[in-house]
Amino acid sequence: MPGSDNKLIIVSNRLPVVTEKNHGQYYLKTSTGGLVTAIEPALNKKGGCWIGWPGISKEMLNEDKFNELLLKTKHKICYQLKPVLLTENEINDFYYGFSNEIIWPLFHDLQARCNFDPHYWKTYQNVNRKFAEVIIKNANMGDYIWVHDYHLMLVAYEMRNLGYNGKIGFFFHTPFPSQDIFFKLPYRLQILEALLYYDLLGFQTRRDRNNFIQCIKILSRDVKITKKGKIYQAITKKKKVSIGSFPISIDYKYFKKQSRSKEVVQQCALLKDNFTDQCLILGIDRLDYTKGIPYRLKAFENALTTYPEMRGKITFTQIVVPSRDNIPEYITLKKEIDGLVGEINGRFTRSGWIPIHYYYRNLTQIELIAYYKISDIALVTPLKDGMNLIAKEYCACHNDVDGVLILSEFAGAARQFYKGALLVNPYDEEGIALAIYRAFKMSKEEKTLRMKKLLYSIKKYDIFWWVNDFLKVCSAIS
Ligand code: G6P
Repeated sequence: MPGSDNKLIIVSNRLPVVTEKNHGQYYLKTSTGGLVTAIEPALNKKGGCWIGWPGISKEMLNEDKFNELLLKTKHKICYQLKPVLLTENEINDFYYGFSNEIIWPLFHDLQARCNFDPHYWKTYQNVNRKFAEVIIKNANMGDYIWVHDYHLMLVAYEMRNLGYNGKIGFFFHTPFPSQDIFFKLPYRLQILEALLYYDLLGFQTRRDRNNFIQCIKILSRDVKITKKGKIYQAITKKKKVSIGSFPISIDYKYFKKQSRSKEVVQQCALLKDNFTDQCLILGIDRLDYTKGIPYRLKAFENALTTYPEMRGKITFTQIVVPSRDNIPEYITLKKEIDGLVGEINGRFTRSGWIPIHYYYRNLTQIELIAYYKISDIALVTPLKDGMNLIAKEYCACHNDVDGVLILSEFAGAARQFYKGALLVNPYDEEGIALAIYRAFKMSKEEKTLRMKKLLYSIKKYDIFWWVNDFLKVCSAIS
């Protein structure tokens, strides 16, 4: 564990605030998303610093202006925020390009969606160096630096080149692909070797960790792999790197408490007014092709066709949160979802019943928790996902042990939840339709039994456990 005088420095592509413009004025807004939800409670407790991109270009916002906005922000932040400023071009080639048109689809096994534009790589390297420089400016040798996610795989390598010898950990929030897929990456060797400059590499599941180790064994032949307890070590001529799996989680107690708050109870009553005597199914996702939304909609249609007794009695609310809407693949996906919802509703709607309620917008935390709470079934069917925190948040809001979780077997969470959830193949429309029907017919006893199993694991392995486990392993590294 970092000593009491030593800071914890979190580094991620995005800061936990985003810069927005309203009536010509910029302001900072607390951002949503898995990573922020996961880390902020730990940082608030330990203190330290978060380094990242403020979500807007350098041409629009300089460091002084950022600090000014920070002073004005209403959200209480108990740690320092240090911006890494990126130009318009860097945002295009590093964030939209290399990170989200190459690494993101590839690491989710969707190589056909990759755009291997060779211009992106140089900017990815430059921006990783820029992050390394800002970290070095803000870090002391005893601090513990924890870098997050696929945007920043080269940061430790760049920091070592700049002479930094302190401890640096890295956590992949995405899956790590098998060798057959990883080897498609033109810069595979540079990336793999750069990752070996970290002291600790964390993966969501054992499968991801094993995939990574397999890639090293094949690509970097002079690396020796050893194992002690649950932690592997890759020993190179220059260094030793520890490698482990650390399934990320949520602040269970927060969701439990919030789901019983007055505001959420009122919001639930408002929402429920629209759905008298309905079995409610919920899907909530960022707009992303990895989430499997079109397959899910077709599976719902299949369920209504195959099990007509559910018509008029079951309503599916699909909430899609806007994301990465500059990327062509995301624009096409949005059109596909809009079209499918229209077709299915056009086919099945009748007086007094609309089968799919579809929202394309951000939700407030109160609305989100209210939706979790009123929904009898959560349909979480990503084609592949590092973990999927929606599945965990849904269960935490069902601490009165009702609710059914239908979960993709390709979400990292499936490994933890295989006993409590109804696992499905997200490509199998008939299989999902059957799971919906099973959930619809499920007895109260079975629901309770399953939800208790899910909650047991979420309570025990919460976000604080995750952070402590990662930092404990880090402190043991000599
Ligand atoms: C995934 C990634 C995160 C990322 C989030 C939102 O969960 O693992 O690193 O922040 O998506 O995506 P965005 O592109 O908006 O940052």
